[in-house]
Amino acid sequence: MTFEGRGHALYLSKLFLMTEKDFVPDPYKVFPNEGKVIWKAPSNIALVKYWGKKPHQIPANPSISFTLDTSATTTSLTYKRKKESNGSISFDLLFEGKAKESFKPKIQTFLERIETYLPFLKDYHFVIETSNSFPHSSGIASSASGMAALALGLLSLEKNMVAEMEESHFNKKASFLARLGSGSACRSIEGKLIEWGSHNSIPGSSDLFGTRYPFHVNSVFQDYQDTILLVHKGQKQVSSTVGHNLMHNHPFAERRFEQAHENLDKLQPILAQGDLEGFIEIVESEALTLHAMMMTSRPYFILMKPDTLEIINKIWQFRQETGLPICFTLDAGANVHMLYPKSIADKALQFIKDELVAHCENGQYICDQIGTGAKRINEEV
Ligand code: DP6
Repeated sequence: MTFEGRGHALYLSKLFLMTEKDFVPDPYKVFPNEGKVIWKAPSNIALVKYWGKKPHQIPANPSISFTLDTSATTTSLTYKRKKESNGSISFDLLFEGKAKESFKPKIQTFLERIETYLPFLKDYHFVIETSNSFPHSSGIASSASGMAALALGLLSLEKNMVAEMEESHFNKKASFLARLGSGSACRSIEGKLIEWGSHNSIPGSSDLFGTRYPFHVNSVFQDYQDTILLVHKGQKQVSSTVGHNLMHNHPFAERRFEQAHENLDKLQPILAQGDLEGFIEIVESEALTLHAMMMTSRPYFILMKPDTLEIINKIWQFRQETGLPICFTLDAGANVHMLYPKSIADKALQFIKDELVAHCENGQYICDQIGTGAKRINEEV
């Protein structure tokens, strides 16, 4: 393509960029009286990390994640049309079968944020029943899977109110809504590799929603394993939301945001060719950079624990001794995600039992793998 040709293509693609307005629905045709919808949405683990954001949940840099499989939230949404709309959002919340008042403010804020895009919200009373596949307070962030499952339930209701909604729009809008609950949740709608955040060399990438990674991905990554070593199950001292905000006025922020763009470019041939050495270098560097950003914020903080470092060192030693392509990544906490190809799963699990389980709280770890995305569990009631 000529230089002018490329410029023209870029101009055209910018012209067709979706905006928030594309998610405001046309007036509804029908209002179902009542019903129930259940969705199971997975968690995800970022390879290139989202850390830092602009207003309205816009990421400061693009990120990419493996969608997980077994670590998931199941949310049932029961809805009943109010006789008269009282102009307010109303819902009951049950977590693992019991009323959970402490979760309500986050959900209330989420529903208020998305009301422009789902203007039926005040016309219904909702009962939201939610549970996680992973142990309660395992230190695994449930906000990604939880917000994704709730967004999908609400969107299934909207789908009944409009003449038609194509699956691609459904997934985009679910991701768009989930993002407004928790940024990383927008990467928990589809699988297996999801990119979020506008990036020059990734066609279709958007700050508003996650999209399937559009390039070739080698078969070795199609069934990659993630064993989550539960180092510390308690509440984090600093929430992700607070951490993101500390990237404002952070001395290394701008360079870090550029680096995330560069790492996404570097990943392209690595993912295509199944270059495990290249993969390990980027993924581990991203994990440590994320935590380096925390350690160099003002105020600074450390989320890793001594056992996190013990595990990292043992993984490095094991890799050096055996040559097996096992690596780690971290999210905003002390737990370690150990990533490896399925072909070496037996050896990896033996290594965990022999050397790593001693560093896990109560010896707990979760065996997970790359997954295909959220699933609707019930049919229309
Ligand atoms: C370190 O998505 O939890 O896991 O948008 O404030 O809800 P909020 O933050 P959140 O941040 C996740 C950060 C991360 C990296 C990642 O998943 O990309």
